[in-house]
Amino acid sequence: MKNYENVVIFDHPLIRHKIAILRDERTSMKEFRELVEEITTLMTYESLKSGVPTTDIEVKTPLETCTQTVVKDNSIVIVPILRAGLGMVNGIHVLFPSARVGHIGMYRDEETLQPQSYYCKLPAGIEDKLVMVVDPMLATGGSACDAIQLLKDRGCKHIKFMAIIGAPEGVTRVAEAHPDVDIYVSTLDRCLNENGYILPGLGDAGDRLFGTK
Ligand code: PRP
Ligand code: URA
Repeated sequence: MKNYENVVIFDHPLIRHKIAILRDERTSMKEFRELVEEITTLMTYESLKSGVPTTDIEVKTPLETCTQTVVKDNSIVIVPILRAGLGMVNGIHVLFPSARVGHIGMYRDEETLQPQSYYCKLPAGIEDKLVMVVDPMLATGGSACDAIQLLKDRGCKHIKFMAIIGAPEGVTRVAEAHPDVDIYVSTLDRCLNENGYILPGLGDAGDRLFGTK
């Protein structure tokens, strides 16, 4: 895959370790859910190195007063792509407990692999916030592209997208369709199979998170 300026592929031993367990078909639903949250927290820490709205405040220590930089209140909105993106929300909330959450519902048509949008509820004022779109799987890239476009149509200007596993096809598609969006992927897998599943991947993330199979 070509290098894109707006794409970061994490290559961190701790994340790789957790993803190895996540992939394993014997991993329980509980452990799967916990790992998705933990990986998301690690990704958030790294992906928010830049672009976070900050403000300066005065802090009085026991010795003197100093100016400190803090994250601006109510400046981050988490937008999971339903269903599987829901599994990543708590991983960000651990770091930003007051972050508002918007929901975008999309499922892939099993035949065409085209994303079908079925729900959208976004917090008021989202257009001025840093929007973190999350979905564990970036396969063809159709769902991510449409979700990001929907947010742009609502006026959002600062968008980051985080996926745990990406296929080269999907990463390329989102990177080229949305060059202004920072894309963070924990690991880049080999390819898609004939049903649009990522190989080696981890199977259906929604089913593994919610026990629907
Ligand atoms: C999965 C996944 C993504 C999408 C990725 O959701 O969570 O949203 O597929 O595929 P794409 O990159 O080819 O669009 P799915 O459609 O299975 O819905 P679900 O989360 O409700 O199971
Ligand atoms: N959605 C999933 O949950 N897994 C894949 O491998 C591809 C899309």
